Amino acid sequence: MRAATLPSIPSTAAVVPSVNTHRIALIAGDGIGREVIPEGMRVLRRIAELDGGFRIETADYPWSCEWYLEHGRMMPEDALTRLADSDAIYLGAVGLPASVPDHVSLWGLLLPIRQTFDQFVNLRPVQILDGIQSPLRGRTSADVDMLCIRENTEGEYSGIGGRFHRGSPEEVAIQTSVFTRRGIERIARYAFERAMERRRQLASATKSNALQYSAVLWDEVVAEVGREYPAVEVTPYHVDALAARFVTAPDTLDVVVGSNLFGDILTDLGGALQGSLGLPASANLDPTKRHPSMFEPVHGSAPTIAGQGIANPMAAIWAASLMLDHLGERAAAARVMDALRAVARTGPWT
Ligand code: IPM
Ligand code: MN
Repeated sequence: MRAATLPSIPSTAAVVPSVNTHRIALIAGDGIGREVIPEGMRVLRRIAELDGGFRIETADYPWSCEWYLEHGRMMPEDALTRLADSDAIYLGAVGLPASVPDHVSLWGLLLPIRQTFDQFVNLRPVQILDGIQSPLRGRTSADVDMLCIRENTEGEYSGIGGRFHRGSPEEVAIQTSVFTRRGIERIARYAFERAMERRRQLASATKSNALQYSAVLWDEVVAEVGREYPAVEVTPYHVDALAARFVTAPDTLDVVVGSNLFGDILTDLGGALQGSLGLPASANLDPTKRHPSMFEPVHGSAPTIAGQGIANPMAAIWAASLMLDHLGERAAAARVMDALRAVARTGPWT
């Protein structure tokens, strides 16, 4: 019998949808991190079930300040190699200042992950959710809808510096900010791309009146990259004035780009405008996907309320939505956000 006359076999590819597996490294960390990450995982498992197009696999890592107290370090020596295999890292919170100084815990875990995995974008949506009152009088979701983009690997957080003449009256501390053309260029380009998808307005946080080297380079590079995006209106604001604008005219802000420290400060302010520290979420992204990206609530470990079961898991769940989006699960990410918005409107008691 010639091949052409064989009855055709229905292709299974057409009827069996392919199921992606996403491997997530879980670092619940300290304090309320251990309470909010399990809640976020419940949401992730449920949305995977409802979606049907992907599976979640997890690896749990106990690295935390408690781990430090036992092992003398925040993570084992091969931690970064172990994390490198995952598709994403889901982090709760790090810090237990009563037992481990914050600069030790953060430079032992969070900051090396951001730097080593070249997670150069720290993406932080700042949105008022209807139903949650902002401390800004009369402002609603119509007024506060920003996307903050913080440079996440260099700038003021380069980690370069030192102290000498320790303890003496001549003691000196040097903390060096490092701004590179490449670093500014890539964060600026990322911000312009996001602005193209939104209201096409980009506010760039600067301080070039005082920082005549680093911030002037920042302004020049942002302007240069901006020439590739003539549709985006870019406005440099000195960061002090921009902080005031967050409060007085948040409706004029769409995408905001800033250096590591400026972005850090502005996004806590943004979180405050959202009406609760239990809300803001953060994505530490390597947009090239060469390394895993990391997703976390903006809030810290909140040791004073830890263990009481009262921590708000919404920021962790929002971070899970950012993670789904980064993993290409757009529909699932949007459904999680819809659920968060619904809970904000009606409360979790319905
Ligand atoms: C954040 C945090 C961290 C930062 C701290 C914990 C080092 O405040 O993610 O915003 O400053 O980046
Ligand atoms: Mn911060």
